[in-house]
Amino acid sequence: MTNDTDFTLDVLYGAKPPAAASLYGALGQSQNPRPGESLYKSFKETGIKAEGLAVDVGCRDAAFACNVVKFFKCRVIGIDPVDNNLRNAQAKVKQQGVVGQLDLLRGALPLLPLKGESCDAIWCSDVMTYAPDLRECLDECARVLKPGGGMMLYQTLAGESMTPAESEWLFTRMGGVPRNHDQAYFEGAIKESRFEIQKKDVISSEFREYFEETGNRMTSLQLLRMARMLRKRDALIAESGPVRYEAELAECYWGVWQMMGKLCPVVYVLKKPA
Ligand SMILES: C[S@@+](CC[C@H](N)C(=O)[O-])C[C@H]1O[C@@H](n2cnc3c(N)ncnc32)[C@H](O)[C@@H]1O
Repeated sequence: MTNDTDFTLDVLYGAKPPAAASLYGALGQSQNPRPGESLYKSFKETGIKAEGLAVDVGCRDAAFACNVVKFFKCRVIGIDPVDNNLRNAQAKVKQQGVVGQLDLLRGALPLLPLKGESCDAIWCSDVMTYAPDLRECLDECARVLKPGGGMMLYQTLAGESMTPAESEWLFTRMGGVPRNHDQAYFEGAIKESRFEIQKKDVISSEFREYFEETGNRMTSLQLLRMARMLRKRDALIAESGPVRYEAELAECYWGVWQMMGKLCPVVYVLKKPA
């Protein structure tokens, strides 16, 4: 803990320890963040087997779903409510050479177009943001899973420093439900659902750091875009309209706030009891 009186001019402007022994030295080095690909390791913990059937709920362009087919040699059904996403997904399925192993269906939580107990594992990444009723959506996922099946649930939660006003501002602009990002509410819904939590893995800023360190400067680009958007607000709104402007600004905050701990991605591996 610090006291306000600790931050004296002597401390702030005094001679600093050599870089090798200081905070600055440590910050110049990678803290070994994991890549986004670690999601596949978590997915393996659902128990998915070759020839099994996995479902990607909210598959968008099926980029993850194509990899699930390739890595696990299983069949996949990708589900999404947006026609444009399904068109892009269809193109990706062809391009990735997984036709016949990956089917696409139009649908949305809380009503999946699948029979009960028909699949072995679920991949659900950054989708519960949109769940109108979280508990109902989790139970729908449990309904379509076979007993003993598992779900890899990746969800970006509000970090401790995010205020209620920031949460309301960000998540509504992303078309989401603000309270679904409250950790206590989110985990409460899981505990009340038909799932058991098998693993919880806090990702925090790791995937974003990994991107920055390996050359995909997505988040620093978002920071730059934020600055430009804020400075040219009126002109950009006049050009693109307030909805496009606000949605794009929120998208930039989404990345930058993950770096700042205002947003905290977490992976849960959930099990439906056998
Ligand atoms: C943030 S994107 C995540 C896409 C992908 N899962 C990923 O991690 O890259 C959210 C996706 O969820 C879809 N979506 C939104 N509401 C949904 C719902 N109620 N049920 C299923 N998917 C939904 C959107 O169309 C979009 O493709």
